[in-house]
Amino acid sequence: MKIAIIGSGHVGLVTGACFSDLGNDVICMDQDVAKIRLLKNGEIPFFEPGLKELVLKNTAKNRLLFTSNMEEAIQFSQIIFLCVGTPPKENGEADLSAIEHVARAIAPHLTAYRLIVEKSTVPVETGLYLEKMIKKNISRKIKFDIASNPEFLREGSAVQDFFNPDRIVLGIESLRAKELLSELYKPFKVPVLITNIRSAEIIKHASNSFLAMKISFINLVSQICSSVGADIEKVAEGMGSDRRIGKSFLKAGIGFGGSCFPKDLAAFIRISEKMNVSCNILKEVSEINECQKINFVNLIRSKLKKIQGKKIAALGLAFKPDTDDMRNAPAIDVLNQLQMEGADIKAYDPCAMPEAKKYIKGVKFVKNAYQACEDADAALILTEWREFRDIDLKKLKKTLRHPLIIDGRNLYDPAEMKKNGFQYFSIGR
Ligand code: UGA
Repeated sequence: MKIAIIGSGHVGLVTGACFSDLGNDVICMDQDVAKIRLLKNGEIPFFEPGLKELVLKNTAKNRLLFTSNMEEAIQFSQIIFLCVGTPPKENGEADLSAIEHVARAIAPHLTAYRLIVEKSTVPVETGLYLEKMIKKNISRKIKFDIASNPEFLREGSAVQDFFNPDRIVLGIESLRAKELLSELYKPFKVPVLITNIRSAEIIKHASNSFLAMKISFINLVSQICSSVGADIEKVAEGMGSDRRIGKSFLKAGIGFGGSCFPKDLAAFIRISEKMNVSCNILKEVSEINECQKINFVNLIRSKLKKIQGKKIAALGLAFKPDTDDMRNAPAIDVLNQLQMEGADIKAYDPCAMPEAKKYIKGVKFVKNAYQACEDADAALILTEWREFRDIDLKKLKKTLRHPLIIDGRNLYDPAEMKKNGFQYFSIGR
């Protein structure tokens, strides 16, 4: 099938590359000319495991093209996926200006039927709005359909998630849209949920909010565990073994970050408020997430006595492992606070340092974990990279001035750390 992807960021590029790998002809469009130039040269603007290989393979087979020309993308395709950003406004509401801009730009180029699919995470009723926008800007009487097909791709495992989804959600309201999307998703042997556009839009916001709620719930429980001397890892295992609860997203830590959960939670709160539905539960999820970072700084302060003048090693900066994405990374708030209190920080992340330099100032970025730990009063684990899990603990102990590790991701076994001579503190254990 012939597909256009409008917006070639984390979602668009992965979606485009994966669809092309299934044998479709895909054109990825982005208004950012520099990004398109980079992609045409086989360079990927961000880190995502497996993506570069996929892009190179499919561009070589001529199934994956790039353009910054909207008309070319629209003429090329039967199905148009909208993958542009929907960042939060100051009040938490999703900013739909990119969607609106794209709708205006697509409309004049529609010369025959096209299916336009929302892939970006959007508030409920955006489909309706999109339809109105296109109708308003279309010059001739051309037929088109709108559909919603939310993505459930985690950064760091997006390619893997694309090919192995738990389900495919299709919000469709015409037979033609149903036929086209059913054909496109034919290779996937997983449940396909067909519903209307509004329900599909809500499925995405509600799923992300629910996952964020699971994380905040376990983080709340971790605070209780700390107070009474229980072990959050065992508590989460005990809870998660109940199939009704499930093991995933019960990992306590310094809170969720990234470009999705904080933004989608805020947008879902705004939607609930607009509909006069009480949403204190969602607000509390966000509040607990903020508190988790404050609690972590409190833990650091209590172990170092005072932060002023202390040398601190920050291991991990990205909002999660296997990505270089720094958006809303908990490390930003934690390190800013420590700096405000006078800490002298050396930081290392296996992948996110070029990005981190845009978000964190006044920190010395070094080449590896041991360099960060040289002569430090404490090491902090802020992202659970495998590299830190496999670190040489003996070497680490020799490098640090004080063998103090404060772990915001519960990466190590406390007994093992004690055996290795560390003072080791983590979340809820
Ligand atoms: C999330 C969803 O998981 C995807 O399904 C969705 O498609 C995507 O948002 C999106 O809306 O585009 P992502 O933000 O990439 O994906 O990453 P997650 O793996 O969900 O992690 C989000 C945050 O939660 C990270 O900061 C992670 O460290 C934290 N987390 C996750 C925990 O603190 N504990 C957990 O148990 C799981």
